[in-house]
Amino acid sequence: MKVIRCKDYEDMSRKAANIISAQVILKPDSKLGLATGTTPIGAYQQLIKWYEKGDVDFAEVSAYNLDEYCGLSHDNVQSYHYFMRDNFFDHINIDLANTHIPNGENLDAEAACAEYDALVKEAGYVDLQLLGIGRNGHIGFNEPDDVFSKGTHQVDLTESTIEANSRLFDRAEDVPRQAYTMGVQTIMHAKMILVAATGSDKAQAVHDMILGPVTPKVPASILQLHTNCVVVADEEALALV
Ligand code: GLP
Repeated sequence: MKVIRCKDYEDMSRKAANIISAQVILKPDSKLGLATGTTPIGAYQQLIKWYEKGDVDFAEVSAYNLDEYCGLSHDNVQSYHYFMRDNFFDHINIDLANTHIPNGENLDAEAACAEYDALVKEAGYVDLQLLGIGRNGHIGFNEPDDVFSKGTHQVDLTESTIEANSRLFDRAEDVPRQAYTMGVQTIMHAKMILVAATGSDKAQAVHDMILGPVTPKVPASILQLHTNCVVVADEEALALV
């Protein structure tokens, strides 16, 4: 695991964007694994600026998102489909037909997960997977568990995640209780993993991810076993490392 210490959120966002743009410049038809949450928004904004200046071109890129809430329509402002268009896809020249997100509108969990799994597998997995980290060490929506998950599956969100994500909803009751997420094994197939973390509320999770035992109780800890994993985090998130 390579840890890059950043001054603050802006510095972290620029460094994360630099790594993603280098990936796309070196391999224009890159398969990018993308993440939602507030953490990557700054990196997406930076990439949009560089796209507008002509420094990076997404025409041949395809994108595979980590997760989606169950039961929200794609045009619901709280859905990750909406988030990705609003924060990134609508502002760059990626072909929307090449953007993929688990289908939260399909309430047949088995079919929705199998379909997404097949898609990612057929693509040969992603070149670069961008990840945020939950306060309890979750990645995607892989919550602490007794085992590491494998492929795309449906999860019941923990109270801590529902509470953390409720800040983005009008009312806590509106946060969906279930989601579809790529599994830990799928995430580990990425050729490179880029974890972005910011703020003191992530300090314990970041510590446990980097220095703690590898355990499904802290899903991000498995990233210690990935041969090409880079963490970009600001001082506050790295306070315990
Ligand atoms: C959600 C997402 C994760 C994200 C996490 C942290 O649960 N499913 O992919 O990493 O929240 O979000 P934030 O970056 O807003 O702290």
